[in-house]
This record gives sequence, C-alpha cells and structure tokens, in this order.
Amino acid sequence: MPDFKVGYFVGSLAKKSINRTLSKALVRLAPPSLKFEEIPIKDLPLYSYDYDDNYPPPGKALKDAIASVDAVLFVTPEYNRAIPGGLKNAIDWASRPWGKNSFNHKPSGIIGASPGSIGTAVAQANLRGVLAFCNSPLFNEQEAYITYKPEVFGEDGQVHDKDMETFLRNYLTAFAEFVERVTTVLPPKR
Ligand code: FNR
Repeated sequence: MPDFKVGYFVGSLAKKSINRTLSKALVRLAPPSLKFEEIPIKDLPLYSYDYDDNYPPPGKALKDAIASVDAVLFVTPEYNRAIPGGLKNAIDWASRPWGKNSFNHKPSGIIGASPGSIGTAVAQANLRGVLAFCNSPLFNEQEAYITYKPEVFGEDGQVHDKDMETFLRNYLTAFAEFVERVTTVLPPKR
C-alpha cells in the first residue's frame, strides 16, 4: 500500500481534551501507510465572509494544510448534540471562499469520544451532513463511537484494553483502504 498523508482535526480546544488523548492513540495505532499530522484550529478567528477577499494567515495556513494532505480525519467531541463551535468555525473557513472549498473531493473520516454511552453519535451524524454538503467522500464503512474510560487511554497514546486497541486498529486499517480506493479510482483534483 502506498503512503498517505492524513491531516487530523481535534474538535476540542480544551487542554485536557479526551479527544486529543484519543488522537494520540490513533497516531500510535495507525498502519505504517498513514502519515498523520495535526491541522490546528485554535488560532482561527470567527469566520465571516468579510475575510473572503483577503484570508488572514491562520485561514491561509488551514487551507494550505488541507491541500497538502491526501485525506482528513475528524476526532471530535459532542457538545450539546452537535460538533463544537470551534470545529464548525474551522470547517466554514476551509469551505470558503466560494469555489475554493478545501474539502471538495478530499476523503474524510470521523471518530469521536465522550464519557457517555452514545460516544458522540449525534455530533458525528451532524458532521456527516456538513461534510457531505462540502462534497467530501465520506468513510462510512466503519463507525467509531468511543465511550471514553480514563483507565483505557493513557496520556501518551497507550491503549490499555485489547478490545479497544483491536477496534481502533481495524478502524484505521479500513480507513487506509478507503483512502487508497478513493484516491486511486479518482485522484483528487488539486
Ligand atoms: C458536553 N458533553 C457532552 N457529551 C455528550 O455525550 N453529548 C453532549 O451533547 C454533550 N454536550 C456537552 C456540551 C458542552 C458545552 C460540554 C463542555 C460538554 C460532555 C463531553 O462529552 C465531555 O466534556 C468531553 O470531555 C468532551 O470532549 P473533549 O472536549 O474533552 O475532547
């Protein structure tokens, strides 16, 4: 399998984000063909189309970062049964200016963790709708609603539960195959 660059978004801005902890596990468990790099969102101002004629440096950096990767992965919390505002703000920045939508033909995957039993399912459904509108080919083969237990996830990306580790490895392997399938059958327009 060829190598693929994957830009990942952590949807939380919190210092002790459990989704950031999950992202560390994903980077650790990914098959060697996936090269992960974070696409940061915390320095973006609130989006307005007033910026469309002249994107500020954080907006330009965001669009350049997405352009430089083969696929994106969203690691997102659920806030009030939706994705956090900071993540939606980043998606709005990336989707504009009109005609320069960074997600067009860019394959994407979604995963997320919450302490609750539905593990961000509602936020993920919300995000699927947003990304579908942005014309991103969506990884639908496996869903990943992670109920976060602190004893399972180490700060350093260790996963202390065999079933969870196997689940995450399988998710990432299927995601890698999806990225290869999408980009091989129809290479992305640059
Ligand atoms: C939450 N939380 C939450 N959990 C959930 O499963 N469904 C929800 O709708 C919400 N809503 C919600 C709103 C807001 C504003 C906060 C701050 C939290 C709890 C949430 O899952 C928990 O705080 C996680 O730790 C959030 O993930 P990060 O930010 O730590 O990655």
